Amino acid sequence: MKTKLVVLYGGKSAEHEISLQTAFSVINALAFDKFSVQPIYITNDGDWVQGPVLTQKVDFVEQLRFEQMEQLRLANQEGEASHGLAISPASIREEQSAEPLVVFPLLHGPNGEDGTVQGLLEVLNLPYVGNGVLASAAAMDKIVMKMVFADAGIPQVAAVAVRAIEWEESQQEMIAKIETELVYPVFVKPANLGSSVGISKAVDRDSLVAAMVEALRYDRRIVVEQGVVAREIEVAVLGNDKPACSVAGEIIPKGEVAVFYDYKAKYQDNDTVMAIPANLEPAIYEQLVDYATRAFTGLDASGLVRADFFVTEDNQIFLNEVNTMPGFTPFSMYPLLWQESGLPYTDLISKLVDLAIERHEANNKLKYTLED
Ligand SMILES: Nc1ncnc2c1ncn2[C@@H]1O[C@H](COP(=O)(O)OP(=O)(O)O)[C@@H](O)[C@H]1O
Ligand SMILES: [Mg+2]
Repeated sequence: MKTKLVVLYGGKSAEHEISLQTAFSVINALAFDKFSVQPIYITNDGDWVQGPVLTQKVDFVEQLRFEQMEQLRLANQEGEASHGLAISPASIREEQSAEPLVVFPLLHGPNGEDGTVQGLLEVLNLPYVGNGVLASAAAMDKIVMKMVFADAGIPQVAAVAVRAIEWEESQQEMIAKIETELVYPVFVKPANLGSSVGISKAVDRDSLVAAMVEALRYDRRIVVEQGVVAREIEVAVLGNDKPACSVAGEIIPKGEVAVFYDYKAKYQDNDTVMAIPANLEPAIYEQLVDYATRAFTGLDASGLVRADFFVTEDNQIFLNEVNTMPGFTPFSMYPLLWQESGLPYTDLISKLVDLAIERHEANNKLKYTLED
């Protein structure tokens, strides 16, 4: 019997377009003798639109938008939806027939990778690929994430958390605190978001103030971090209770002007190169695996995370962050790391689906009342 894979993509997020690309890649990598696909496109406005079930590859990316938008137009015409849900998430559940169904949320950033969609799927009691509510939410918040890592004994760069209200009411004290605990340059980041949105590097007090103003446009909570000169090394983690780690990969900025690895460099141009496997001493790699595994377990992650480290010239290691829905096209670091570790893209997707079912079954065995 085929498994129906409900692919959620698009989303109310800055990473809408990349999500569409990812959905196209995932769908086209599927073994269609094992899967059928129910595509669900989430528009920029947050409408959920269901397209026709796919039993074979799609020809081009835009097909995953056009067909859906046509459905939305028809629904609006018939007065079924007035800028709302062309389908309701609950209808996914109603459709669950004899065939097993697994949801694959291919959404990045807020409203997708942050636990909100995961919460909805939990409420509907549907199996879904990837991290649950807790891990997704904790890893989307750079302040909470740091607390979890600290508790797990994982080294990180020094950092100061600042709330908007503290900045408004006692800016001088906050600057003094930052300048006491850290040394310029520092990185100023909104606690939420991803893809380097709202992040800037500050080299002195003036640029710190400018960076804070910019970051506060995106969040009420800001983290100011010690800047380090380091290589950027990433490890892919896969599993549930006993996660496995891939080989390590390195992100190498090519352009001289690339101040840091920003949004543009990630997705839009060829300013960066990925070196896989990264050239590391075996002992350093082992250390990364240990920290990545501890981060995974500490967050109660499931399915997948990508752990992003800084490794300095004298081999000091800092965990920068983990991503609970890392870039997932065939040319993204996470799938490439597994490819290089002996697990090709198509098998990686199947494995993630198996892990989703495994976790869902385990959770459904748990008692949630006091009765027998
Ligand atoms: N403390 C730091 N020291 C040096 N570079 C940093 C530091 N923090 C971030 N960067 C640079 O900025 C990039 C984006 O920061 P990151 O925290 O990973 O944000 P995002 O969640 O947007 O990926 C990093 O990949 C790195 O190149
Ligand atoms: Mg990052």
